[in-house]
Amino acid sequence: MGSMTRARGRLVGGAPGTAWGVDRWRRVRDLFETSFSGLPAGIDRAAAVGMHWAEMTTPFVWFEGQDPVCHVGVLEHPVLLAGKRTTIAGIHAVCTRPDRRGHGLARRVLGAALEWIDARHALTKLHTDVPAIYSRHGFRAHPTFRFRARVAADAAVERRLLCPTESADDLALLTRTLARRAPASDVFATRDPGWLTLIDAALRRELDTTFWHVPAHAAIVAYRTTGEAIHLHDVIAPTLPAASAVLPPGATAAWWTFAPDRLDPAAEPEPSPPEDGVLLVRGDWPETSSPIGVSPLWEH
Ligand SMILES: CC(C)(COP(=O)(O)OP(=O)(O)OC[C@H]1O[C@@H](n2cnc3c(N)ncnc32)[C@H](O)[C@@H]1OP(=O)(O)O)[C@@H](O)C(=O)NCCC(=O)NCCS
Repeated sequence: MGSMTRARGRLVGGAPGTAWGVDRWRRVRDLFETSFSGLPAGIDRAAAVGMHWAEMTTPFVWFEGQDPVCHVGVLEHPVLLAGKRTTIAGIHAVCTRPDRRGHGLARRVLGAALEWIDARHALTKLHTDVPAIYSRHGFRAHPTFRFRARVAADAAVERRLLCPTESADDLALLTRTLARRAPASDVFATRDPGWLTLIDAALRRELDTTFWHVPAHAAIVAYRTTGEAIHLHDVIAPTLPAASAVLPPGATAAWWTFAPDRLDPAAEPEPSPPEDGVLLVRGDWPETSSPIGVSPLWEH
């Protein structure tokens, strides 16, 4: 798409993030900071474990002079959806500098990003707390669920917390296992070889608190404990183990945040809580009666 001039600025988009120089990225990071406080620091934490934002995104940005004032990023997210391997366009990091909001910039830049996507992908998705921005562009809310675990944890299984920011061996184990993983669900699961999961963990400040190695099963389970409840965000393994081997013992309730059809098929779905945001989809999303979940480590 290159660059397109309008009255007060110009749209630049359609080239991969790696084509943009350091100076331009620095300015875009400054824009991110105005709208998502701490995002550039999170991008740096991800880079420190080898996952580089600019390598995964195709940015669309409205510039006024040298200043980026509105950004829409596009990812290409490999997933398993309704049993089929596919790649879905993902919208991320949509923002307009506070003093330039309310002038239709996000509408215009989204329109350009979607034109680019439509030439390449049948499906687009994103997670958001502000669905209204997207409704005029053909997005619709898709219900998401979390699933109450129905298996008992095997307390005898040994597990160890990985610290990938401090241990090169832990990082190597994590990235190797991510790259060789089996999709965690047939209903909906990420197939990214590690970049999405680790960038999400870095943005959530969870790199050293969420990934547990279960050596007996060559598996890594990602979970977070809040109060008495456990939120199971991922099971990363070349061959999925029994759910009892990855469930941590001792919680009064455990929830899978993704559909556990391959791990705990009797788990009971209930609608995701509103604070988890809304999944928006656009295009030919398959009609399926199976409830889906989107782990926060697979979101964008
Ligand atoms: C949300 C945001 C990107 C909107 O940018 P903007 O340039 O002011 O948006 P526009 O003027 O182009 O408006 C686009 C549409 O969104 C709607 N909209 C804008 N801000 C909105 C808000 N906070 N709540 C609901 N609707 C909103 C507008 O009414 C408009 O609707 P229309 O296209 O159907 O007419 C901007 O407010 C922002 O950066 N917010 C902080 C970051 C954020 O929350 N991003 C979204 C995360 S997914």
